[in-house]
Amino acid sequence: MKALVLGASGATGKLVVQQLVKKNIKVRAVVRESAIIPGQISNDKSIEIIKGNINDFEIAKIKELVKDCDCVICCLGHNISLKGILGPPHKLVSNTVARILEALQSGNQNSKFVLMSTTAYTNRKIGEVNTPGEKVIFSLLKILLPPHKDNMLAANHLVNKLSSETNIEWVAVRPDSLFDEEEVTEYEIHTKKTRSPIFNPGKTSRINVSHFMVELITNDKLWQVWKHRTPVIYNKE
Ligand SMILES: NC(=O)c1ccc[n+]([C@@H]2O[C@H](COP(=O)([O-])OP(=O)(O)OC[C@H]3O[C@@H](n4cnc5c(N)ncnc54)[C@H](OP(=O)(O)O)[C@@H]3O)[C@@H](O)[C@H]2O)c1
Repeated sequence: MKALVLGASGATGKLVVQQLVKKNIKVRAVVRESAIIPGQISNDKSIEIIKGNINDFEIAKIKELVKDCDCVICCLGHNISLKGILGPPHKLVSNTVARILEALQSGNQNSKFVLMSTTAYTNRKIGEVNTPGEKVIFSLLKILLPPHKDNMLAANHLVNKLSSETNIEWVAVRPDSLFDEEEVTEYEIHTKKTRSPIFNPGKTSRINVSHFMVELITNDKLWQVWKHRTPVIYNKE
């Protein structure tokens, strides 16, 4: 099995790569030229590192990237800096999702796609609704915070745009407030949000997100449960 990891230099992406390697899965990791990656990843012969900005890649290059991969895990996100939040590319995640799906579909390749999404995404298809207070805040965030809009578009692409008659199976994993922890701990997976991401947020460690995403692609029973769904992940309190 070979996995393509996007955002592999990120706080969660790095953990995904490490967990894949632990399971003897070959990894192709895309990182920016400027990215800082631990020696554990850059010196590992089972990890193929592709340097460049996925956002600038032509579709032909993206097709090459996905060609021999069985799954794609996307942990891309906007950097938490003024430039990262307000500067371009405003559609980093959603454009990447669209182009990865296009590449997979054009190759008629059976593939699994896992998106690192967020509990800020409300999946109306499964009956989730925002409270009046959440509606106000999310509407403001959509206008004021380009990364929020980008994350909503990315998840929407999978939930609402992708035809059901496709060769691609997907899962959009929705963590709540992220934090760092050394070890995998107990976590809960829910079909729907059980708390308000605005008024009563839960916590999700990045290592637990990476663990669940890697479990999804390696455990077919788990994949069958969650495919084409938007599971919410919280650390157990
Ligand atoms: N913060 C939260 O509480 C929260 C909660 C739920 C979901 N999320 C979502 O989860 C995502 C991942 O979280 P994280 O903490 O692991 O993120 P992170 O550490 O910021 O990693 C983001 C990744 O995206 C890459 N990236 C950023 N800007 C880019 C650009 N312009 N072009 C190409 N690549 C770019 C980064 O590359 P470099 O290393 O080169 O910068 C990095 O690999 C978040 O961004 C967010 O959408 C966040």
